Amino acid sequence: MQPIIAPSVLAADFGNLEQDCKMINTSDADWFHIDIMDGVFVPNISFGMPVLAEIQKHAQKPLDVHLMIVDPDRYLETFHKLGAEILTVHYEACKHLHRSLQLIKSFGIKAGVALNPHTPVQHLRDTIQDIDLVCLMSVNPGFGGQSFIEKTYDKIKELKQLIEDTNSNCLIEIDGGVTDKNAAKLISCGADVLVAGSHVFKSADSLSTIKTLKNVN
Ligand code: DX5
Ligand code: ZN
Repeated sequence: MQPIIAPSVLAADFGNLEQDCKMINTSDADWFHIDIMDGVFVPNISFGMPVLAEIQKHAQKPLDVHLMIVDPDRYLETFHKLGAEILTVHYEACKHLHRSLQLIKSFGIKAGVALNPHTPVQHLRDTIQDIDLVCLMSVNPGFGGQSFIEKTYDKIKELKQLIEDTNSNCLIEIDGGVTDKNAAKLISCGADVLVAGSHVFKSADSLSTIKTLKNVN
C-alpha cells in the first residue's frame, strides 16, 4: 500500500510560504505536517498561530499539527479552530494523556501521540485504543535536517505488534530524517505515514521527490 506523505513545512521557505503551500497542493503529498515548538519542550521555537492561519488559507490538504509544547491542553481548542485535522501531542508533555486525547476527539478530529526516541512504545499499551495516530520520532524533536535514528525500525515493528494485539487501527507516522533511502524499509516495517522536511524542500525538484516517496516500495 502507498504511504501517506506529509511534507514538513518547517523546512519550507518562510519568505515564500504561499508558493511552497501551492507546491504541496499540486504534489502527490497527502497532508501538510506542521511543527509547533515552544522553546521549552524542545530547544527551538518554530512558529505559532498567525503563521498557521496563513498556511491554512492556502493549504488544500489536511493539516497534521505536531505540538512540541508543554502542557498542550491549553491550546488544543485553538489549534482545532486553526484547522488541524490531525492533532498530535507528545507523551512526554502530557500529565493526563487520556484526558488530552479525549479533548482532541471531542472536536471530531484525529488524536495523535508522539514518542521521543527514548520513550518505549509500551508506554502506550493502555491508551492505544484511544489513539488515531502514533508519531514515532526518529530524531530528537526540535530541528529539521538531523540524521535518522536506526533504532526506529525496531520501534515500528513493536508498535505494529501492539496495534495488532489490541485490535487497534491507529496509523504509524515516522518523523525525522526520512529520505528515499530509508522510506522502503520504514514501510516494510509497518509505517503508514512518512513526514519529510529537508529531503523534500532542499531537493532540486520537490514535486518529483514527493512522487518518489509516494511510490517507494
Ligand atoms: C522535528 C520535526 C520534524 C522535522 C523533520 O522536531 O518534528 O517534523 O521537520 O525534518 P527532517 O525531515 O528534515 O528531519
Ligand atoms: Zn514533526
